[in-house]
Amino acid sequence: MDVVTSLNNMTFYKKQRRIALRNCGVIDPENIDEYIAFDGYKALATVFEQLSPDQVIDNVKQSGLRGRGGGGFPTGRKWELASAKQSDIKYVICNADEGDPGAFMDRSILEGDPHSVIEAMTICGYAIGANEGKIYIRAEYPLAIHRLERAIADAREYGFIGKNCNGNGFDFDIEIKYGAGSFVCGEETALIRSMEGERGEPTMRPPYPADEGYWGKPTNVNNVETFANIPSIILNGAKWFADIGTDKSKGTKVFSLAGKVNNVGLIEVPMGITLREVIYDIGGGIAGGKAFKAVQTGGPSGGCLTADDLNTPIDYENLLAVGSMMGSGGMIVMDESDCMVDFAKFYMEFLVEESCGKCTPCREGTKRLHELLAKITQGEAALKDLQTIRQLCEVVKDSSLCGLGQTAPNPVLSTMTKFSKEYLAHITDHKCPAGKCTALLRFSVDEGNCTGCTLCKKACPTQAITGEVKQVHYIEQSKCIRCDACYKVCKFDAIIKK
Ligand SMILES: Cc1cc2nc3c(=O)[nH]c(=O)nc-3n(C[C@H](O)[C@H](O)[C@H](O)COP(=O)(O)O)c2cc1C
Repeated sequence: MDVVTSLNNMTFYKKQRRIALRNCGVIDPENIDEYIAFDGYKALATVFEQLSPDQVIDNVKQSGLRGRGGGGFPTGRKWELASAKQSDIKYVICNADEGDPGAFMDRSILEGDPHSVIEAMTICGYAIGANEGKIYIRAEYPLAIHRLERAIADAREYGFIGKNCNGNGFDFDIEIKYGAGSFVCGEETALIRSMEGERGEPTMRPPYPADEGYWGKPTNVNNVETFANIPSIILNGAKWFADIGTDKSKGTKVFSLAGKVNNVGLIEVPMGITLREVIYDIGGGIAGGKAFKAVQTGGPSGGCLTADDLNTPIDYENLLAVGSMMGSGGMIVMDESDCMVDFAKFYMEFLVEESCGKCTPCREGTKRLHELLAKITQGEAALKDLQTIRQLCEVVKDSSLCGLGQTAPNPVLSTMTKFSKEYLAHITDHKCPAGKCTALLRFSVDEGNCTGCTLCKKACPTQAITGEVKQVHYIEQSKCIRCDACYKVCKFDAIIKK
């Protein structure tokens, strides 16, 4: 007889702890009554009935919650700064841009539990003295937008937001602003410009949004996941939250676990869990029996970590100490078949496309870095190019205007440091040890394994493969464009690429 296991006993969930994701997959996100049945809007009522704005801020400060959008700035401190500003108009902005490749934490929270963010933004508005909330979300997230629109309308109808929220004499309403899908628009100053109808380009900080934000008014910007933690902190108390995690990183973190693990998906884990536990216990180890090679945390701003780093307890400081960063929660696992030079090139290509072009070091530097990395993967680089890359990385890091450029060199520098032999193999031996960089590979047929099935011949786009049915096939090197098509279709391990 099949035994049905409860979620908490499944290996994927056993080591998880769900606070930000507490309602995702549990309630119907389009039914406000279900949210209320799971203590929804109770934190808002508690705040109105029992806490002054300063006490709310104090609670958030005591909880130790830090911004989950990447920077890790203490949330309570941020609210305190916005609260201290005297202004007739203030804003609360929820940053739901989320543009890192492979990241879907915030989208999932908005799709699965939009009311938790609406409730938290209202609490924030009360705490800092703001009456208007804006959610900046990319238009590429239609389901999240649909559910948010529905949730905002329902919250308004039930009187939780709008004029005289919950009958407590406080006005707070929320509007959605749509982004066109640009990574740099997640940077808070670029986001604010984009919301104002300007080009989504960053500006120098200071002034910080808490001083001069949306339309020049004091503005508090927080990430979706940061907000999603707030109702639980209010209901369970700051100490409850502060008891989870490590010395300086409290609570949990949501990650999009992707890449070469058996179990991919969204996970929420207590700070302090090790990378090994995430990859092997929750992720179920490396797929296809291959060997672990590296894990990238922090998305395009982060770095790669190796087997030596697997016992690192995950928190903001520890990840920085081993050469990466927490970032917003992308976690991509790589196996022995992944090339680290190619991987660094992938992120640089993304950043070249996403750089807004306002400052020269980022606009030009990312392009030149991409060219140099491409040269290496094509076997056309010289050793002195490594020196140029390092110098360029320093310039781009030190002189770019915003975090995009300032962190763009991180994936390059970390792979160069941790996988220097792999870079050298491309340059001096013209070999890609992982067998990924096709320009450095030679495709040939293993005569012993070839059955003459003709699949490779049919798949070859340049007719480089010759041979009759049931006869050994051959690859004409002058015609081969190393597209990998023959290797992918061969069922008999008869294509050798070296
Ligand atoms: C290039 C770039 C992209 C960013 N993208 C996002 C994003 O998509 N979502 C987000 O919350 N923060 C993003 N940030 C960080 C924001 O600027 C800001 O620090 C954050 O929204 C503050 O919220 P938090 O304190 O709750 O983390 C990005 C920063 C940079 C430099």
